[in-house]
Amino acid sequence: MNRLLIILLLQLFPVILMSQGWDTPADKKGKLSPFKFTDETRIVGEKLYLLNCKSCHGNPGKANFINLVPSPGDPATDKIQHNSDGEIFYKVTTGRGPMPSFKNALSSNDIWNIISFLRSFNPKYIQAFQPEIKSAAYPGATINISLLLNKKKDSVIVKLTAISPKIIVPVINAGIKLLAKRTFGMMPVDEDKTSDMKGFAAFKIPKGFRGDTAGNVYFSLRFTDEDKFGAFSKDTVIKAGEITIPQSLVKDRAMWNNVRKAPIWILLTFSLGVMSVWGFIFLVLFKLRDIYIVGEYLDKNPGKEESELK
Ligand code: HEC
Repeated sequence: MNRLLIILLLQLFPVILMSQGWDTPADKKGKLSPFKFTDETRIVGEKLYLLNCKSCHGNPGKANFINLVPSPGDPATDKIQHNSDGEIFYKVTTGRGPMPSFKNALSSNDIWNIISFLRSFNPKYIQAFQPEIKSAAYPGATINISLLLNKKKDSVIVKLTAISPKIIVPVINAGIKLLAKRTFGMMPVDEDKTSDMKGFAAFKIPKGFRGDTAGNVYFSLRFTDEDKFGAFSKDTVIKAGEITIPQSLVKDRAMWNNVRKAPIWILLTFSLGVMSVWGFIFLVLFKLRDIYIVGEYLDKNPGKEESELK
């Protein structure tokens, strides 16, 4: 009996542990969106939500989240709405247990857009926001980022400038990372870099780096130290990749959608098979018709024998 109890408790242990409150470090709780939530941010957020979150959390307000331990919960309910914006941001970024971390999959702005969408289900919510890009390291200035391809087309050159009404200075010693959009999520290009004394940094593009059909690559530049520089990403499309023509998997081989592509032996055996099946069906039908005719004849001529028929 005791043993059973222990086993039961051991089973429950992770559940008890995991269903405990999910705490956010104090300094992250008060984090605010750098922009105001509007209809546009909500619509962008909805799309991102449907792609990244719906599979587990369901449609907000419909309580159709999936059954996981701990429960993902319906984002329209207090389970998620009781969180401050900073807490939601932190939880989505870091993840816990079955809830994945979206640190690399989504940019900070993406996450804020999703939060904008989630808050639209909370009539009591009033947003506070804090325009950013202003860096604690450069008080009073906004940071301007430009991304360029170098002449040899093998590196992306980043230039960081702090601009204030009074001065324009290079942003030095800022940790930055460059991500490129791939089919699934964002992939870091080269290692993280630090801007030099002139505010420059260069990210090497690997050989054979694939772009879209025009060679375009969607880049996102972020600061590695978001607390200092703000959760800001500079997103740009640069023609830095090799032209990639999407290859259809069924281009050369496909059985039924296109006769031209089917190997001749498949066409032959298939047609033969179809013909013999139909031939057999017709054979049976003709035999049935014969039986019917014989029957009719014998009914009309009761004296005759079957053997007399031709
Ligand atoms: C693979 C399933 C899955 C996906 C995808 C997922 N979540 Fe979660 N989420 C969970 C689970 C499970 C929990 C509960 C985790 C816990 O309490 O330890 C959770 C918890 C949360 C919480 C914290 C709730 C609380 O108790 O404070 C938030 C906020 C959240 N998810 C938002 C999102 C957003 C936004 C997305 C999409 C960007 C997302 N989730 C995608 C499964 C998922």
